Amino acid sequence: MNADDPTWSKLCSLAELKEDALHPMEIDGIPVLVVNGRDKRLVIPRSCPHMANSLAEGAFDGHVLTCTKHLWQWSIDEGGEPVGMAEAPLLCYETLESNGELFCRAATELKYEHEDDDA
Ligand code: FES
Repeated sequence: MNADDPTWSKLCSLAELKEDALHPMEIDGIPVLVVNGRDKRLVIPRSCPHMANSLAEGAFDGHVLTCTKHLWQWSIDEGGEPVGMAEAPLLCYETLESNGELFCRAATELKYEHEDDDA
């Protein structure tokens, strides 16, 4: 992988990211959420895989992300795998870190099945 590849879009500088924090951003008009965990960083769709609540308003302790609507949880350390009663993993965009910057490949918006229900 190479950051000069045009299929990668720059999201932000790594220095802009606060520790253990959620950062809503957009990439080419696609709303994403950068989950800046203590041991792992993920870029995910902003909506919850359950009923599309915004995960930007979720709770995050640096390891586990919790949707505050119905309390589904995911392990960020394990790449968005469900914890407890969550029934679906988080979708994750491909990311690349180069020269202190975070890049993301988001040519196609990742969506959960429920988001296509009324399409
Ligand atoms: S909408 Fe997120 S857990 Fe239900």
